Amino acid sequence: MNSPILDDLNWRYTTKSYDPNKTISTENIAIISEALRLSASSINSQPWRFIILESDDAKQRFSNTFETKFLANKPHATNASHIILFTHNPHYSIEDFEAVIDKNILDGRIKPEKKDDAVSKFSFADLYTEPSGYNANWTKAQLYLAFGNILHVLARLKIDSTPLEGIDVKRVEKEFSQELDGFSCPVALAIGYHDEADFNARLPKSRMPLETVVHKI
Ligand SMILES: Cc1cc2nc3c(=O)[nH]c(=O)nc-3n(C[C@H](O)[C@H](O)[C@H](O)COP(=O)(O)O)c2cc1C
Repeated sequence: MNSPILDDLNWRYTTKSYDPNKTISTENIAIISEALRLSASSINSQPWRFIILESDDAKQRFSNTFETKFLANKPHATNASHIILFTHNPHYSIEDFEAVIDKNILDGRIKPEKKDDAVSKFSFADLYTEPSGYNANWTKAQLYLAFGNILHVLARLKIDSTPLEGIDVKRVEKEFSQELDGFSCPVALAIGYHDEADFNARLPKSRMPLETVVHKI
């Protein structure tokens, strides 16, 4: 089966060791940023912020959060070219959604006189919102769509990556509390270029058989 899409998906793998001397170009960081922004989300809610750590100082702060947990992931903090903190709003409100609708109006997708109607689509988010306003499970699901999207984008750019759920969430959220501004950070992504020590680069890809995961009816 020949397909550039399958080539990308077979090319990508979880990198276990980065070359600290290789840096992602500014142009590619701009493409990655725009691809994150273009990710799809339920009712176009976009309940996320992507914090890109590129300075040595920011990466060192991330490294410092690995004190007792997931130490195998720690070297990526400083050896990878960049780290992206994936963050989501645990209390996504109708006011947040109104800002999305205002941007839709600015972009010419929604007519100003239809604003109230458009904002009423928040009722969908309400289905997943507790009386306290907490809807983190729903906003986290949106965040992971952006996460999956970017894994493929990175493969297309031939940039290596490591998904990192193995982070000390409490410490990360404390260290970056100012930048997160109340958002939650359940997952990060290391990106860069692997080095010779990366054993995973040489292993074959392994997935469950097609017929067990895709059922045609
Ligand atoms: C949400 C998510 C979190 C992950 N967290 C880690 C992690 O903390 N450390 C790590 O080395 N790999 C992590 N992985 C990598 C998975 O183990 C890997 O994607 C899986 O084994 C498939 O292998 P492949 O990515 O090489 O195709 C994570 C993957 C995902 C999708």
